Amino acid sequence: MNALLVLLYVVFGYFLLAMTVGRLVRRYYRFPIPSFLTQVIDNPLRRRFLQDPEVIADRMMLEPGMTVVEVGPGKGSYTFAVARRVAPGTVYACDISDYVFERLRERVEREGIDNVEPRIDDAYNFSFMDDSVDRVFMIACLPEIPDPVRALRECFRVLRPGGLLCLCELFFDPDYPLRRIEKRWAGEAGFVLEKEFGGFLVYQLNFRKPI
Ligand SMILES: C[S@@+](CC[C@H](N)C(=O)[O-])C[C@H]1O[C@@H](n2cnc3c(N)ncnc32)[C@H](O)[C@@H]1O
Repeated sequence: MNALLVLLYVVFGYFLLAMTVGRLVRRYYRFPIPSFLTQVIDNPLRRRFLQDPEVIADRMMLEPGMTVVEVGPGKGSYTFAVARRVAPGTVYACDISDYVFERLRERVEREGIDNVEPRIDDAYNFSFMDDSVDRVFMIACLPEIPDPVRALRECFRVLRPGGLLCLCELFFDPDYPLRRIEKRWAGEAGFVLEKEFGGFLVYQLNFRKPI
């Protein structure tokens, strides 16, 4: 019993230490996380207890036929939950990482999903036309982009007037920003807050591009 307690303390201590060091490093150096980690971050525990893809997709007010852009899709759990709701509309899963693109392309092919299109695309300079998409969403992605307001201005450009931007964050992400910071970034890019969900540990913010 004592050994188990000691083990728990040690594991928890290492976890706290890793979080603190991670946050300190990320405070001064922003860069995309190593691509292989995207496969680890998206795990069953997180999906079950913290960021359920179905719940996040439900809050996005999706309709069949919509065009959606996801920035930084990782393994694609959130991508596919959204794709099921907008079919026959399309989800463009955009990432700067070749690794993420290839893994996602393989999964789309393997599972025969015809309304997800993985793309190599940069949030600073999307390949989409102005006012052309209904939804843009990012899960644990915006705060790792060195100039988040620039990326949000680009989201604003491609969203149609009245379209929604959905941002979801998780406290255990070393880049986790406080809600008020993310609201300020979105405000600077021209978005208006529509609705907020969740608490301190996990939150989702929906912003609208004004008509
Ligand atoms: C922390 S991962 C999140 C993955 C996934 N959304 C999740 O929650 O499991 C962030 C992803 O954003 C991508 N990314 C970083 N900067 C980007 C940019 N400027 N444009 C597009 N994607 C970017 C990274 O390559 C990475 O795959």
